[in-house]
Amino acid sequence: MNWRKLRIFILTVLALALIPATRYYQIDVPLLHFLKGSRAIDPLTLHLAGEFVENNLGTEQGADGSVTVRMIAQQYLFVPHCILVPAGVPVHLRITSADAVHSLAFNGTDYNVKVLPGTISEAQLRFSNPGDFKTVCREFCGAGHYAMRSELKVVPREQFPVLRAGERGNCAAQ
Ligand code: CUA
Repeated sequence: MNWRKLRIFILTVLALALIPATRYYQIDVPLLHFLKGSRAIDPLTLHLAGEFVENNLGTEQGADGSVTVRMIAQQYLFVPHCILVPAGVPVHLRITSADAVHSLAFNGTDYNVKVLPGTISEAQLRFSNPGDFKTVCREFCGAGHYAMRSELKVVPREQFPVLRAGERGNCAAQ
């Protein structure tokens, strides 16, 4: 390979790296997979298979009474739109993004969870008292960022429905 060809090759690689979409899938996703190990997830196939398919989203009850909440953040909403959890119980949150970087926060609490495409963010939450909390996005993620908000309902433990295996709680179940 002569210098001219080499120069064209290098410039082409640089140009490709500058296209955000190309950069994201050629560099960021493999890098995230490498860094995050088992927490890696393909943002393009969330709705097709795996942990974050639609009927697996929402609140799941463990045998020990703790709950796991699974959510997706995407421009410009959180899915499910309304989350129902019992008060005074450990809540294990698992969330991922279908597109941009978001940040899930519950107004009136200190919880703030960064959500990235290509990886599963986990957090341990606990809400001592019942109440309604506004769920907001705190990372600028595009034109609809300021409208990206949803609800969290914390109900007294005895009012939280008993969920069967495979059943997911949501606000409509209350
Ligand atoms: Cu999502 Cu801001």
